[in-house]
Amino acid sequence: MSEPKNQAAWLTKAGSPLEVRAAPLPEAGPGELVIKNAAVAINPLDCHMQDSGVFIQQWPAIFGCDVAGEVYEIGKDVERFKTGDRVIGHAINLTSGRPQDGAFALYTVIPADKAAILPDEIPFTDGVVVSFALEAAVCALCLKEPDIAMPGVFTPAMGLPYPSPRDVPLSDKILVVYGGSSSVGSMTIQIAKAAGIYVLAISGAHNFDFIMRCGANRVFDRNDPSLANKIIDAVRNNGGRFIGIFDAVSTPETYAIDIAIFAQLGGGHLACVHPPPPVDSVPASVKSGMIFAVNDVVTPVWKDYVTPALRSGKIQCLPPPLIVGRGLEHIQSALDKAKAGVSATKLVVEL
Ligand SMILES: NC(=O)c1ccc[n+]([C@@H]2O[C@H](COP(=O)([O-])OP(=O)(O)OC[C@H]3O[C@@H](n4cnc5c(N)ncnc54)[C@H](OP(=O)(O)O)[C@@H]3O)[C@@H](O)[C@H]2O)c1
Repeated sequence: MSEPKNQAAWLTKAGSPLEVRAAPLPEAGPGELVIKNAAVAINPLDCHMQDSGVFIQQWPAIFGCDVAGEVYEIGKDVERFKTGDRVIGHAINLTSGRPQDGAFALYTVIPADKAAILPDEIPFTDGVVVSFALEAAVCALCLKEPDIAMPGVFTPAMGLPYPSPRDVPLSDKILVVYGGSSSVGSMTIQIAKAAGIYVLAISGAHNFDFIMRCGANRVFDRNDPSLANKIIDAVRNNGGRFIGIFDAVSTPETYAIDIAIFAQLGGGHLACVHPPPPVDSVPASVKSGMIFAVNDVVTPVWKDYVTPALRSGKIQCLPPPLIVGRGLEHIQSALDKAKAGVSATKLVVEL
């Protein structure tokens, strides 16, 4: 049988459109899988990488983080998978810089530790929304010690428990998720709920039903002029232990609300998706950090949680995919659409 031919959506220089053309067929190294992609998803990071070339280590580049498809080849020491398995996975070109580790191709290499079996009843185009958001959510919640996010910036270390495939009782811990309808925010709600955490979410009012579907305990309107006071009252009335805020938006506007909340609630963790607010603007009792969504802290979740949770519905494939088209040629239009902004939706390209 002749070897299959790979193709990829290449980025030749920052700010230029992707070019679909041949790519080498990757090989699985030790601990790796080659995935024959059936669907890929678009993340805001991809837009930044295309526009500015940030994080790109090798030109021309193949980037992209979310894949779903079939295992085409397994590397040495991989025991959890076999060829033909349906999987979702997190492609880590972001850290490795290798083109074969980018999602925007017909075949992609991923670490076996960042993959999980996708149950048969879940389409690839649904499953593909999970991977990068899951990695980000676990990085936000479960690190026990601060790691390095980027030079001079530490990660948060909330030290919260891992999600459990069993039903766990609600603990006394309270977490605020700002930007609860975003991909990363909504997955964080799902993961926190499965760890028994009481979640207060903030989103646009048009997404309240979506937020409750993700498992939040209460939801607040991002445009409410008394937003900070309402969150403060909700925490105080609950009487539980305020852990902090995961801010999945991380803009000066959201930081101002975060700081107003911490000022009244006496501090806690502030986990940001971008560099945190300047130290002198934050109460001394706040431990702030920026997540970096590639971390081994997620390995136990990939290994033991994702597949049973997808089966039981503890992980729902949310936000729902919007399929932009079929074929690598559609990745550029999906990126253009992402740059215009989405709400409670993940843009997906079928392959
Ligand atoms: N550091 C890392 O490792 C890392 C990893 C992943 C993502 N990120 C960053 O995290 C951010 C979120 O990524 P994503 O993929 O989750 O984004 P996304 O799904 O594209 O985010 C869209 C959502 O953001 C919400 N939103 C925007 N402004 C808001 C505000 N002021 N208040 C509340 N909600 C607001 C919108 O909510 P409504 O429509 O409800 O108003 C919308 O649903 C991006 O900036 C991304 O670059 C960083």
